[in-house]
Amino acid sequence: MAEATQEKLGLAALCHVGPDSVGGAMFRRYWLAICRADDLKDIPQAVKVLGGGLVLLNEGSGRLGLMGLHCSHRGTSLEYGDIEARGIRCPYHGWLYDVAGNCLDQPLEPKGSTFCQKVKHPSYRVQELGGLLFAYMGPQESDPPPLPRYSTLVRDDGVRLVLPPRHWDYNWFNFFENTIDSLHAFFLHKPSRADRSWENAFWDYPGDHHIEALRTEYGLKTIVHWPGPTPDTLYVRLTSLALPTVFSLGGRGVEEEGFERLLFVTPVDDDSFMVFSSDFVPQDRVDVIKKRDQSRYAPPTAEPVKEYDKRKHVPYRGQVWREDYVCQSTQGKIGYRNEQLATSDRGVILLRRILMEAIETVQQGGVPMGIVPTEKAHETITLDAFRRILRKSELNQVMS
Ligand code: FES
Ligand SMILES: [Fe+2]
Repeated sequence: MAEATQEKLGLAALCHVGPDSVGGAMFRRYWLAICRADDLKDIPQAVKVLGGGLVLLNEGSGRLGLMGLHCSHRGTSLEYGDIEARGIRCPYHGWLYDVAGNCLDQPLEPKGSTFCQKVKHPSYRVQELGGLLFAYMGPQESDPPPLPRYSTLVRDDGVRLVLPPRHWDYNWFNFFENTIDSLHAFFLHKPSRADRSWENAFWDYPGDHHIEALRTEYGLKTIVHWPGPTPDTLYVRLTSLALPTVFSLGGRGVEEEGFERLLFVTPVDDDSFMVFSSDFVPQDRVDVIKKRDQSRYAPPTAEPVKEYDKRKHVPYRGQVWREDYVCQSTQGKIGYRNEQLATSDRGVILLRRILMEAIETVQQGGVPMGIVPTEKAHETITLDAFRRILRKSELNQVMS
């Protein structure tokens, strides 16, 4: 997209996700994770996605439904409705909807009334893969694109783990651009790395890291490298993401090879989002990962707080998620904050560019980056990510 068009649209387009926004129109072209499969029981479940209230239901034997939350009659929340063999019935006057949004019954209307045939309730596609439920909220008139088969969702040579989603109360983009901002870890997360020897060796390099950001088939990757333990080696951290909001965080070192963690970010509205994570641990690495996760949830290093320190989020140092929360939630929304981007922001700059391009492409009626073409519907998508010591001669392979 031409720089001038991006400028006209403005970076604020990235943080608005409602149905009338250009960012929202872009998001509605992709499948988004909305719930863990295990969390959907035999009662309706309310969920908010892209600024809209929805109700999710399992009709039994795997038949899933995703519909507008508020009854098309007079707005009662279908979260309190009853799931029946043919759909969901509103508790107020008993209107019954099937999962395609057809109104099948209106028990209080005169016998022989055909009014229910005129009622169409909003409904969306929903599909399960690898323990997550994905929704497609795009144009109803066209078929949705293939649901991407990311490796953690389809691999079967080990253990898959889908953790409960995390909910955050700030704009989705602040979180997502942080994922590709590898260098912040060297500064912000230093205090929380104290008990991990491998990590220390990796992160303690005092400066002059080299960062590169490159486009990939479905998004981008960033490569950070700096001098390794011997003259012919480099420490390399590679992370990848796919549009619109899938981030890949790989294993550390050779011992965690094959471990994959994907994060799926789903905007709830302009001020909150959910993060789903899907881990895949190869059978022979299960113990290594267990040990790593124990250290991940270790209690934070105690940070003394001065008696007069009434700052809202203090203490926060010593635990990675708190450190991230403080920095990301206080930035303000993209497009509304003053910024001066630097060399270390290369990944962030490229991410903004490709997301703005995706917004523009959708505005022009095209297919944005990150959509899987039908002919590749069955392919497994692997998003590279690792932290490893490489020989200098191996760097070119990573950069391609
Ligand atoms: S409000 Fe739902 S049936 Fe009347
Ligand atoms: Fe972080």
